[in-house]
Amino acid sequence: MQHNNVLILDFGSQYTQLIARRVRELNIYCEIHPFNNPPKSLDQYNAVILSGSPFSVRGEDAPHPDLSEIRGKKPLLAVCYGAQYLAHFSGGLVAPSNTREYGRANLDFIKNDEAFLEHISEGSQVWMSHSDTIKELPTGGVLLASTKDVQNAAYRIEGEQTYAIQFHPEVYHSIDGKQLLENFLVSIAGLQQDWTPDSFVEETVEDLKSQLGNDKVVLGLSGGVDSSVAAMLLHRAIGENLYCIFVNNGLLRKDEFSQVLEQYKGMGLNVKGVDASARFLDALADESDPETKRKAIGRVFIEVFDDEAHQIQDVKWLAQGTIYPDVIESVSATGGPSATIKSHHNVGGLPDYMKLKIVEPLKTLFKDEVRRVGASMDMDKALLGRHPFPGPGLAIRILGDVTAEKVRILQEVDAIFINGLKEWNLYDSVWQAGAMLLPVNSVGVMGDERTYEKCVALRAVESTDGMTADWVNLPYEFLQKTSNEIINRVKGVNRVVYDISSKPPATIEWE
Ligand code: XMP
Repeated sequence: MQHNNVLILDFGSQYTQLIARRVRELNIYCEIHPFNNPPKSLDQYNAVILSGSPFSVRGEDAPHPDLSEIRGKKPLLAVCYGAQYLAHFSGGLVAPSNTREYGRANLDFIKNDEAFLEHISEGSQVWMSHSDTIKELPTGGVLLASTKDVQNAAYRIEGEQTYAIQFHPEVYHSIDGKQLLENFLVSIAGLQQDWTPDSFVEETVEDLKSQLGNDKVVLGLSGGVDSSVAAMLLHRAIGENLYCIFVNNGLLRKDEFSQVLEQYKGMGLNVKGVDASARFLDALADESDPETKRKAIGRVFIEVFDDEAHQIQDVKWLAQGTIYPDVIESVSATGGPSATIKSHHNVGGLPDYMKLKIVEPLKTLFKDEVRRVGASMDMDKALLGRHPFPGPGLAIRILGDVTAEKVRILQEVDAIFINGLKEWNLYDSVWQAGAMLLPVNSVGVMGDERTYEKCVALRAVESTDGMTADWVNLPYEFLQKTSNEIINRVKGVNRVVYDISSKPPATIEWE
């Protein structure tokens, strides 16, 4: 089945990914491409959205792509910078605004009988973020909406399916933003809302079947959501020809290796658990620099994975749980396209001589979509709701050098904290949580004796993507109980602190 596809041309706005998420929430598929590296052909796209941008259209370095293949030929929605760009190059006038137009505003004029504005009433709150303003509409421009400070807040071009809005429909503060996107995509562009998790599963499984045939595929499971959902899709497509490898690097959470391995087997996956804890700990001996620790773990992972993969006869493919944010190329504020491609942390790339082809079934999905796809395959809720956990595991939560004893202490502390969050029904409202073992001993008293033992820091954050984060205001009673339990039960720890730093400037991990 062929789904409609919306092209989002990215001019470098911090909100571009949000446009894509809102479009997909309407069950319409879309793709983000940088304005200076657009798709070769527009044939497969049914509508186009121009994003915002940190630039001014009047600036010399500003994005000025040729829209002649789009305007009047495809339904077009221009947002913020896009709206100004359209005006600037089509006979309108864009100039610096007298007041900085940032934050909430209300639509106090709305033109009647416009499909674009259906179900949107006067007073509707919108979010503005711009310093230029459209003083005069372009040739053929028809005014659709205004706010108190922004006369030309929305317009269309007569005789075309071209619409433009100065505000950002993609941010939640624009209360009717999603309605507006729906009006444009469904009522005006006539797109079908049929891109759903169920359809994604069905079509991806069919595609994988024809792509992979009888070939064997190897995949590294990490216990996390992405690799697990990727494995289930592949399992549906090729069954026993999917060979999963789950490596215990000795830096996982307490009992995680055995529990998750059992869970994978219960899901019918052909999975081999490899306990390589000792190899990882050896490689980490006396290393205290965070990046050196990461590199050592990455290196040993590849060696272990490579050894295992070699034992599978005739394997042709390496599957990875790469997701969309890992592959989107965005445009940086300084003009050049900045590829934000991260190396996948759990399978840090395999040696060339393995000559495996790569298959990445989730590479068009955002994280929340991966979860929905997992749910549509009836995967376990607890597995799909797991907090993110770094590839190098507890090694980057043990500040300084890593030893088996430190891992044991931190596993105990972490288990008390995480189990407590679950018991108190706090786990699902926290984006990520964990404990850090600090390279600090401090004095305490236990009974009549003085102690000189370790200090641990607990960290729990709220976030949507890990790029920014805020500490969670956990109930005092919970912190009190957790601290008591840690100090009473974990030998070697006599002090617990709670991290109340936001990111930025503090990162989520301490190393
Ligand atoms: P920071 O500490 O940079 O973390 O605020 C942001 C997110 O990334 C995770 N993280 C890592 N994940 N390998 C990983 O696989 C790493 O080396 C690594 N460092 C940080 C961190 O847990 C958080 O979710």
